[in-house]
Amino acid sequence: MTDSIRVTGGRPLKGEITVRGAKNFVSKAMVAALLGSTPSTLRNVPNIRDVGVVSSLLRLHGAPVDYDVEAGDLHMDTSALVPADAAQIAAHAGSSRIPILLCGPLLHRLGEAVIPDLGGCRIGDRPIDFHLEILQKFGATVTQMPDGLLLKAPNGLTGIKHKLAYPSVGATEQLLLTAVMAEGVTHLEGAAVEPEIKDLIDTLQKMGAIISVSTDRSITIEGVKELRGYDHTSLADRIEVGSWASAALATKGDIFVRGAQQRTMGMFLNVFRKVGGQFDVTADGIRFFHPGGDLKPIALQTDVHPGFMTDWQQPLVVALTQATGLSIVHETVYENRFGFTDALNQMGAQVQLYRECLGNVACRFGERNFQHSAVISGPTPLQAADIEVPDLRGGFSHLIAALTAQGTSTVHGIGIIDRGYENFRAKLAALGAEVE
Ligand code: EPZ
Repeated sequence: MTDSIRVTGGRPLKGEITVRGAKNFVSKAMVAALLGSTPSTLRNVPNIRDVGVVSSLLRLHGAPVDYDVEAGDLHMDTSALVPADAAQIAAHAGSSRIPILLCGPLLHRLGEAVIPDLGGCRIGDRPIDFHLEILQKFGATVTQMPDGLLLKAPNGLTGIKHKLAYPSVGATEQLLLTAVMAEGVTHLEGAAVEPEIKDLIDTLQKMGAIISVSTDRSITIEGVKELRGYDHTSLADRIEVGSWASAALATKGDIFVRGAQQRTMGMFLNVFRKVGGQFDVTADGIRFFHPGGDLKPIALQTDVHPGFMTDWQQPLVVALTQATGLSIVHETVYENRFGFTDALNQMGAQVQLYRECLGNVACRFGERNFQHSAVISGPTPLQAADIEVPDLRGGFSHLIAALTAQGTSTVHGIGIIDRGYENFRAKLAALGAEVE
């Protein structure tokens, strides 16, 4: 399959598409299956590259995986696991950061785990210090090897008291996946409470875990000796839903997103409405549409849940180039998530980046010289261009820009988009986009 796509823009996206399970939950639920001594079934699983990556990591550790793509059912038999080495893991993981989350389950089941050098989207430093600190506190030893880190638990893993310096999604998941089978009680303060984490907690509970979540971002886990497999249906991918909604807005379109769930989209829906988009929530999904007239500018900042999520930011910024007036977007989760705006400016947008925290809240990047605030001046007609996809969400945003622009754009490197957007080429075609 070619890695470039030609998009002739300027026509509204109209029609219906279906969004299935959340990439950022499904991959973690597949890791959780490793904790179970009996098979697990995960449902509503999208056919995206990250699912393929985690499937091959599971197989590498002796767990057969069987995926019925059409039904979305993924069966994992984790009853007998075997260790793998860093080079094998790296070869299967590609650019994914999932291997870091395998540590807790593998330490419990096999007594050791390895982490190859990690990849992931180029949107900031993305360190793993929180993860290593947590694993070491539980009792893991960490040894630097030529091709990665080797972790062992010579005396088993014991519950901890821990406070996160920032409500990191991955670090919260790390702690959950390790604490559920550690000896004794673990208490976490400053946890991330994203809907994907709540779904992970529900999954672990089905497996036999004992986890209580308080309203003050604290989580208590009572370790158990053994967990069994689960049968669970993933929540919908709210990032993908927000991406298609932004595409509807930017192209003056009308898209019914089957599978979209209001309960995970609250903050996005508020912003969508304030910008001038309209939506109808039904039992089967959400219809997003541009009602005609001018879009309005907005000031917003990204934040951890229940704030406006960072992954919605990039697609929405494309729609904001079509709003009348000045919009301000302050990115507080990743220090370097505006790289994709270079291409927008090349297409005629006016997006200016600032090192200061614009808006009324200061964040941890304000004093560290990162261009993490953007002022978008609109409306600016976009012109077709030859552009290169920078990362997953930035890449989808480039597609939206090309769909909005007059003329034929070529978008290179679209393979990255397959990591998190199921069948996006077919969905574009179903919405009447002119793509080759
Ligand atoms: C998850 O990444 C998602 N990825 C991201 O989605 C998402 O943007 C992010 O959460 C925030 O919602 C997956 O679930 C696979 P974090 P994660 O730990 O867990 C800093 C997408 O496009 N930090 O919450 O890696 C970090 O640098 C992706 O689907 C440390 O400093 O994010 C960042 O500034 C992109 N040390 C902040 O915390 C650490 O050890 C939040 O990161 C870990 C994180």
